[in-house]
Order: sequence, then C-alpha cells, then structure tokens
Amino acid sequence: EGNKLWGGRFVGNTDPIMEKFNASIAYDQRMWEADIKGSKAYVKALQKAGLVTQNEMEQILTGLDKVFDEWSKGEFKIKPGDEDIHTANERRLKEFIGDPAGKLHTGRSRNDQVATDTRLWLRDAINTLKELALPLISTMVERAAVEIEILCPGYTHMQRAQPIRWSHWILSHAVALSRDVERLEDIRKHVNVMPLGRLVLCILCLTECVCVYFWTAEFLFWASMCLTHLSKMAEDLILYSTKEFSFITLTDAYSTGSSLMPQKKNADSLELIRSKAGRVFGRCAGFLMTLKGLPSTYNKDLQEDKEAMFDTYDTVHAVLQVATGVISTLKVRAMEGALSPDMLATDLAYHLVRKGMPFREAHSCAGKAVYIAESKNIHLSQITVEDLQTVSPLFDKDVSSVWDYNRSVEQYSAPGGTARSSVTSQIEHFRTWLQAQ
Ligand code: ARG
Repeated sequence: EGNKLWGGRFVGNTDPIMEKFNASIAYDQRMWEADIKGSKAYVKALQKAGLVTQNEMEQILTGLDKVFDEWSKGEFKIKPGDEDIHTANERRLKEFIGDPAGKLHTGRSRNDQVATDTRLWLRDAINTLKELALPLISTMVERAAVEIEILCPGYTHMQRAQPIRWSHWILSHAVALSRDVERLEDIRKHVNVMPLGRLVLCILCLTECVCVYFWTAEFLFWASMCLTHLSKMAEDLILYSTKEFSFITLTDAYSTGSSLMPQKKNADSLELIRSKAGRVFGRCAGFLMTLKGLPSTYNKDLQEDKEAMFDTYDTVHAVLQVATGVISTLKVRAMEGALSPDMLATDLAYHLVRKGMPFREAHSCAGKAVYIAESKNIHLSQITVEDLQTVSPLFDKDVSSVWDYNRSVEQYSAPGGTARSSVTSQIEHFRTWLQAQ
C-alpha cells in the first residue's frame, strides 16, 4: 500500500474491485487545473505560516507548474493507484521534486482540496453558462424587436385565449431565462467561498465550507429550473412547427429527417432540449437523495457530487447553444391567419363594461353571443347588431370596433402588456439589463 496517501496504518492490500469502486480519477481529473491552482495558493500560505521554507515553497511551485504543463499538453499519465485528482497531482509532484512534495499537505485534508477544486471549477462553469445564456436572451430580445408587428394567438389550456404579439411570447421566455441568470449569480456568491485550510471539523466546515455540499445541490436545482423553462419553450415551438399550426419552420440545421418517410422534417433539436430537463432533474433528485440523512461532515457518499455536476454542466452547456441556434434561425410563417374572432370575446365583454355594465354581467352577455355564433355556425364578428341586442340593449353599431386584433393587443399598455409601447419598453428593459451583465 506504499503509494497511498493514507497507507500508513494499512498492511493488507485493497481488493482491485474496491480500488476501482473507490476511485474518482476517471471523472474528477476534469478539475486538474483547479487542483493545481488551489495547491499553489496553499503552499504560499504554508510559507507565510512558517511551515515550509522559501526554498521549499519555490520547489513546490515549480513542480506544480510542471504538473500543470503536462496536463495542459495532454501528456499527464494516470497511474494505477491515482485514486483521485488530488492523489495524482501530488504523486506527480513528488516524482518531480522529491521529498518537499510531502510538505504540501500540511494542515490540509483532501476534503479541503475537493471542496476548493469543486468550488473553483463550478465558479468557472457558472461564468461559462452565464456567457452562453446571455446571447440566447439577446437573440430572443432582438428577434422580438424585429418581429414586433406579428400577432398570434395566445393560449391557455392549449385553447385559443386572446391575441398577443409574437414578441410577447418570445419575451415571456426571455423573462424566465433572465431570472435564471440572476439566480445563477446568487449561486456564484455561495460557491465563491474559500474553504482551504479549514480541515474537516471547523465550524465553518460544518455549516458551509467543506462538507455541506448545498451549493452543488443548488447548482443542480438551478439547472433543473433553467432547463424546465427551456423545455416549456421547446414544447410550444414543437407544436408551432407542426403542419397543423404552421406558425414556424425550423431551419435544416436544427432538424432531422426520417429514414422511412421522405417528407418528414422533425424538430429533434427542440425535442432534445425538452428532454434534457428530465435528465438534469434526475441528477438533482439523485444527489439530494445522497445528501438526505447523511451524518455531519464528510462522508465518501459526497464523491457522488461530481458526476452529477459535470453531467449537468455539459447538458446545460449544450442546450443553451442549441437553443440559441434554433431561436436565431427559425422562420415565422403565417401566425396571424390563426387568429379568429372568438378570441375577441373578452373584448366584447369589455365593450359592454365601457358602456357601464358590471363585468360579471358583461362576461355572461359575451358568452351568450359566443353561443349564438356557434349555433348559427358563423364567426362571432358576423352576428348582426339585432341579434346582439337580444342579448343586451347596450349593443349598437359601434360594436364593429371590437373586431380588430390590433386594437385588442394595443389596449393592454400596462407594463408587461401586449401593446406595442409595452413590448417596446420590455425590449428596452432587456437591452439595458443585458448591458449590465
Ligand atoms: N475523491 C474524494 C471525493 O471526491 C476526495 C475526498 C476524500 N476524502 C476522504 N476523507 N476520503 O470526495
């Protein structure tokens, strides 16, 4: 057991199956850079504390640079017995500089290292994801600006509700994503805490530093939330891309075909985006199950955090880029043709409200008008004034002003509304927000 960091009290050998089961090097080698950075900072602190000499510190720093070099050139050779990235780097450092390497671990545990490495790695990962989320939001915002004139049906329960601007739909998803970016900033603050030198039992470790992996869990939850938002957006777009809706077409770059049916153009990009929420939430739920009921401080169970974290990161990393590609290249078809006068039934009620009728009553009158149109098999807008007057004497010729989709969206001019001015100010708000990021 000679080369094990913890081999001193052991006489028997580790079962090879256990050796493999215990090792995390296969995946935690992704943190090689963070591990070396952490060690370089730590040896400087050891020198300040008088625990290594200036000369030893310099040897260690030079040795760590050599290890760094090997990793960055792809030349680092993992050896049997390199249990994890911390073990591997220290083993290699010792091969380079000999005994002084053994002083690096003074006052430090691998728990400090793993917490430091994960935090450094995740901090970079968070920065990268933010850098990928912003262009997606900006693509949405600029698309909303260009296509502000396009109207389309707004749905609730997947039933036609009221006319909206297509831009309004786009921005509703941009809002969700911008909140996700803000949440990510919050997590970054929690991740950006220095745990080195806190060992395994100091109070900070117990509450937040080394052993409570809540920030990994937070990141996994964040990713689940963010991909849930994108899965909803993807689902709308999948539907909008069907022949039945024909609101949009995806470019070939983000579609695939069928090996059997030559006419098919499938929205696989969006289906995969939709699916990834499930995958990432599975990682989150799995890791929370690992955390549940664990005793305080470090337990080896916590090694499970890394695969969840890496896989989640890789997934979100891909989804954000594909989503940006899809949104920036999709083509809008004939959305306005899908509007129908029944979507103005609420406006018909408002028309009566403006004439002094209480909304409850106006709602009921408009409902009766819908019923008349349905039973006569005509559009709501085609009911004669005489027929409308059987519902309420307040109706007269000026009811014709209701049958105007543009007027309908323009009436909602409060913040977040569908009026051109509201959507424009949303767009301006987003542009300012994006610049501040
Ligand atoms: N590979 C381990 C992990 O990722 C490092 C920490 C080991 N600590 C320990 N006390 N055994 O969790």
